[in-house]
Amino acid sequence: MSEIQIPILDLSTEVELLWDELNAAFQAVVRDGRFIMGPQVREFEAAVAAMLGVKHVIGLNSGTDALVLALRALGVGAGDEVITTPFSFFATAEAIHHMGARPIFVDIDPQTFNIDVAQVAAAITPRTRAIIPVHLFGQMADMDELMHLARQRGIAVVEDAAQAFGATYRGRYAGTMGVAGAFSAYPTKNLGAYGDAGFLATNDDGVAEAVSMLRKHGSRRKYYNEAVGYNSRLDTLQAAILQVKLPHIPEWNALRRAVAARYDELLATMPQVVTPFAAPEREHIYHQYTIRLKGVDRDRVKALLAEAGIGTMVYYPVPLHQLPMYAGQDWHLPQAAQAAREVLSLPMWPHITPEQQQQVAAALRQAIAAAG
Ligand SMILES: Cc1ncc(COP(=O)(O)O)c(C=O)c1O
Repeated sequence: MSEIQIPILDLSTEVELLWDELNAAFQAVVRDGRFIMGPQVREFEAAVAAMLGVKHVIGLNSGTDALVLALRALGVGAGDEVITTPFSFFATAEAIHHMGARPIFVDIDPQTFNIDVAQVAAAITPRTRAIIPVHLFGQMADMDELMHLARQRGIAVVEDAAQAFGATYRGRYAGTMGVAGAFSAYPTKNLGAYGDAGFLATNDDGVAEAVSMLRKHGSRRKYYNEAVGYNSRLDTLQAAILQVKLPHIPEWNALRRAVAARYDELLATMPQVVTPFAAPEREHIYHQYTIRLKGVDRDRVKALLAEAGIGTMVYYPVPLHQLPMYAGQDWHLPQAAQAAREVLSLPMWPHITPEQQQQVAAALRQAIAAAG
C-alpha cells in the first residue's frame, strides 16, 4: 500500500492561515491561567448564539455530552423511548442508553441518509419522550415535517447537529429548530477544536439552566450541588481555538459547497457512482462528501483507492441496529443496511484543490474499473 497522498481530511492550510491568531489565542489563555471556565468560554458561547440566532449556547466537553445533557434536562429516564436513526455515530444512541431509555430506530430516507420522517409516526408509542434526528454529513433532516409531527404529539425534538454547524433548512440553522441542538467540535468537525469539545444551543431557558448546572457537577454555585451532574465543561483553551475559527466558518462552508459541486461534475459520468442529493430547501455544508457505489464492491474500491494514495472512509459500516447490544432485537431497516454497504466518503475539506479533486476522481474511475 502506498503512502497516502490525499488524505480524507487535511487541516494544514487552515492551520497555516490561522497560525498567528491561534498562537496569540493560545498564549493569552496560558498567560491568563483561567483554564476552566475562563472568559473565552462565555465569549465563544455568545458569538455562536449570535451567529445561530439562538438565545443560549452552552459550551460542553463533547457533542456526546451535549446529547446526554439535553436528554437529562428534558427528564428522559428509565422506561422511556427515544426515536432516532440507525445511520449515525453510536454516540446518538449511547446518549439515550445513558438515560436508561431505549432507542427506537426508524429507517432512513435513501436520498438524504437522514431519518425518514414519514416513518416516524408509526414508531411513536405512549412511552416516546423525544426524537433525535441526526443531520448527517452536513445536511439537515426534514425538519418541517418532523417538527409538525412532534408538536402535534407533544414530543420533544433534540437535534444531533454534530456534523452540521451552519447548515440550514429554509434559512433556519441546524440545532435551532428543536428544543435543543447538540454540536460536536471534535477536531475533524467543520468547526473543530484541538481536542474534545462540544456545545448545546437552545431557546428554552429551563433547558439552558439545567444544562449549565449539570455541566458543573449539578451546581449553580460551587460546592452547593443540587443534582448529580457531570464534569462536562468546555476547556478555555478549546474555546479560544474555536473563537479563532468561528468567523471563518460561513466562508469555509461555502468552499465546501464549491468542492462538492466540483466533485458532482467530475463524477457525473461514472454510472456506478451516486453523488450526494442536496434538497433545495436545505443548505448542505458537506461535512462529508458521501457517494454510493452501485454494482461494484465498495470495500474493494476503497482498498484500491488506498493503494493509489487516496484516503476515504466508510461512515458507517455497521448500522446501529446491527451492533451487538441490539442482538436478538428484531429490526427491519433495509435502507440503513443498504447504505452501510454502499457508502464511501471522499476527501473533503474547504481548501482541497481542484487538482487534488481531479486526482481523486481519476483514481476512483480506475478503482471502479479494476474492482468491477
Ligand atoms: C452524528 C454524531 N453525533 C454525535 C457525535 C459525538 O460527538 P463527540 O465526538 O464530540 O462526542 C458525533 C461525532 O463524533 C457525530 O458525528
